[in-house]
Amino acid sequence: MKLWGGRFSAGPAELFERFSGSLHFDQRLFEADVVGSRAWAAALERVGIYSQTERQQVQAAFDEMLAESQSPEYFAGADDEDVHTFVIRKLGEKSEDLAARIHTGRSRNEQVATDFRLWMKGEIRANQSRLVDLMQALVDFAKREPTALLPGYTHLRRAQGVLWSHYCLAYFEMFARDYDRLADAYRRTDVLPYGAGALAGSGFPHDREAIAKDLGFASISANSLDVVSDRDFALDFLYAASTTMLHISRLAEDWILYTSEEFGFLEPGDEVTTGSSLMPQKRNPDALELVRGKSGRVIGHLQALMIVIKGLPLAYNRDLQEDKEGVFDAADQLAGCLEIIRLCVQTTKVNAAAMEKAADDSWTCATALAEFLARNGVAFHRAHQIVGTLVLQSTKEGRKPADWTLEQLREIAPEFDAEAAKLLSARRALENHTTPGATAPATVARSLAAAESRLEAMRRAR
Ligand code: ARG
Repeated sequence: MKLWGGRFSAGPAELFERFSGSLHFDQRLFEADVVGSRAWAAALERVGIYSQTERQQVQAAFDEMLAESQSPEYFAGADDEDVHTFVIRKLGEKSEDLAARIHTGRSRNEQVATDFRLWMKGEIRANQSRLVDLMQALVDFAKREPTALLPGYTHLRRAQGVLWSHYCLAYFEMFARDYDRLADAYRRTDVLPYGAGALAGSGFPHDREAIAKDLGFASISANSLDVVSDRDFALDFLYAASTTMLHISRLAEDWILYTSEEFGFLEPGDEVTTGSSLMPQKRNPDALELVRGKSGRVIGHLQALMIVIKGLPLAYNRDLQEDKEGVFDAADQLAGCLEIIRLCVQTTKVNAAAMEKAADDSWTCATALAEFLARNGVAFHRAHQIVGTLVLQSTKEGRKPADWTLEQLREIAPEFDAEAAKLLSARRALENHTTPGATAPATVARSLAAAESRLEAMRRAR
C-alpha cells in the first residue's frame, strides 16, 4: 500500500523502493505511531471527521493492533514504505472506511517527528533509571571499602593518596551530570509536533493543547516549519549518550589498568571476564574493553546526525530519515553499556593492601610534607625544594618514605618535627584534605551521605 500515487503515471522502480523503504528499522516506532494515531483519531473527532462512535472504533482497532503486534509474525513479509504506511494498512484490514480517513490533514512529517519524540521520551527515562542503578552501585562499592586507599594519579604517575570511596564518588559525579543532561534532553523532547502539518500547519482547527495532553507532551511547538525539521532533541540525546559513554569508557580504561598484573589493585569478577582459546592462564577484561570500544560508535552517531542536518534547507527533507538508525543504535549501546558497567562495579573486588602499598612506596606524601613546612613558616617555594631534595636522595638510595626517621628528616630540614614524620604515610597525609569535596575520611563520609540523598531525590522525581 502507498499513501500517495494519484499524481504519478508509473510507480517507483523496485530498486528504489527497496532503497528508500524504512519499515525494517522504523518499525521500532510502531507503538509510538499507534499511540500517536490514537490521539490523532480523537483530534479528528473534535474537528468533525469521525463521529464519536467511529473514533471509538478506530481507537479499539488501534488497541487490538498493539496487542497483535506482540506476535513475532506481525511484521513478517510487510513491504510498506514505512511504519506510518504499515499502521494505516493494518487499520484498513480492520476497517477500510475508517482507515481511509485517519490521515485527514495529517503529514508523515509531523507524524514521524511526533513518533520519534514519544519513543525518545521513554528511552531517556529508561536510561536515567539505568544511570541511577549504576550510581547506586558506585555508592555501594564506596561503602563496601570505606578505608581502602588508592594512589591518585596525574599523568598516570602516582600523585597523592585518595580514598577508594572518593574515587568511586568521582564517577558518581560524572554520571550525575549525565543524568542531568538526559533530563535536559527530555525537556526539549517533550514538545508536540502534531498540528504542524507537512510544514505550514493544519487546515483544520485542531486543539493542539488537547492533543498534547492526550499524548503526555508538556507543551506544543511554536512554529510548524521548525518542528517538522527539528532534530535538535535527537542531537541532545546523542550528546548526553556520548558523554555518558565517555565516562563509562574512562572508568573502563582505569579498571583495565587496575586489574592488570602490573597494577594488581582490582580483581574483576568471573561474571565479566573471559579466557583465551590458546593461553590457559588468561583472564581478560573483555566487558571493560567492549564498553570502551562501543563509546566510539555512539560518538560517531552524534557526528553523523550533525552532518546529516548541517546543510538541509527548511523544512522537511528526506535526509531526515537518516536520523533513526544511529539514534536507535546509540540508545541500544548506551542501555547495554550502562548495565554491563554496573555489573562490573558490583562484581569487582579491591586489593586494598596492594593499593595502599603503591601509595606508600611512591612519595605520594611529598606534598603533605611540603605543606607541613609551609604551615610552619617555611616559604612554599623553599619547602618544595626541601622535600624535592628528600625525594631525590631517597631515590638514589632506594629508600621509601617509611624508611626515614625523624632524626634523618631533621638533617634535611630542622623544621621537621614528630608531626611531620607521621606524614610519611599516604593515609596520614590525606587526612589533612578536609576542604569540601576533598578526600579526608570525614569529608568523604559527608559526600557519600549527600550522594545517597541525591539518589533518593532522583528516584522520587521519577
Ligand atoms: N520515513 C520518513 C522519515 O523517517 C517519514 C516520511 C516522510 N516522508 C516524506 N516523503 N515526506 O523521515
